[in-house]
Amino acid sequence: MKKLVVLTGAGMSAESGLRTFREMGGLWEEHDVYEVASPGGWQRDRAMVLRFYNERRKQLLETKPNKGHLGLVELEQYFEVWVVTQNVDDLHERAGSSRILHLHGELRKSRSTTDPALVYDIDGWKLMEGDLCEKGSQLRPHVVWFGEAVPAIEEAARVVSSADIFVIIGTSMNVYPAAGLINYVPGTAPIYVIDPNEVSIAGHPQIRVIQKNAGEGVQLLTKEIRNE
Ligand code: APR
Repeated sequence: MKKLVVLTGAGMSAESGLRTFREMGGLWEEHDVYEVASPGGWQRDRAMVLRFYNERRKQLLETKPNKGHLGLVELEQYFEVWVVTQNVDDLHERAGSSRILHLHGELRKSRSTTDPALVYDIDGWKLMEGDLCEKGSQLRPHVVWFGEAVPAIEEAARVVSSADIFVIIGTSMNVYPAAGLINYVPGTAPIYVIDPNEVSIAGHPQIRVIQKNAGEGVQLLTKEIRNE
C-alpha cells in the first residue's frame, strides 16, 4: 500500500466546534499566548495556565470527531495512513486513526515537572495545583509550549520523507518546526492542501489546493486519489 502522510492543524477540529488559534475569534485573540502557553507563563501564574487548559479540556470532552477525522480513517482502506498532528485534542484517536504522531503533546495527559518521562492520563477535565506525580512534584499539561523542544519532530520527519502522498489539512503553517516538515516531502510526492482559506506555501510546484473545509475536502481528496 502507498503511504499517505497527513499534517493536521487546528482547522481539522474546527467542525467539531474547537476554536483555531489565528483566525478571527481564535484562541490567541483572547489569551496572551506567552502567558498561557510558555514556561515563563507557567512560572509566573501556574493557576492561570492550569485554568486555560482545564477550560479547553472540558470543551474537548463535549466534542466529537467530525467528517474530516472520519474521512482520514476511511482512507486507511486504500493507503497506509500516518497522521502527524499539531493538535493536542484526541479527536483523531477517537475517530479511529491507526497511526498518530502528536507534535505538540496531548491535552488529556499530564506530566511531571521534574521527570518528563512520567506522563499520566487525566481522568475528566481538571488538572489542579496539588496534583502531584509519583515523585511528589506538580503535574503540568503534557503540551509543548512556545520555546520548548518538539520531541516527536525527528520521527515525524522520517515519516514525511517516505510519503508517497502528503496532505496538509487545517494549518496556517505558521509554527516551526511543524511547518518545516513540508521540506521533507519527496519531490515525487504530490502535495494536497485542504483549507477553506488561502494558505501561503511557497516553493512547492507539486501542490494541489482543495479550498474546502476538512469534512468536505477529505471526501473530495478520497475520490481523487483512492485509485492511485
Ligand atoms: N477545515 C479546514 N481548515 C480550516 C477550517 C476547517 N473547517 N477552519 C479553519 N481552517 C484553517 C484556517 O484557514 C487556518 O489555515 O485552519 C488553519 C488554522 O490555523 P491556526 O489557527 O494557525 O492553527 P495551527 O496552524 O494548527 O497552529 C499551529 O500554533 O498556536 C500554536 O501549538 C499551536 O498547534 C498550534 C500551532
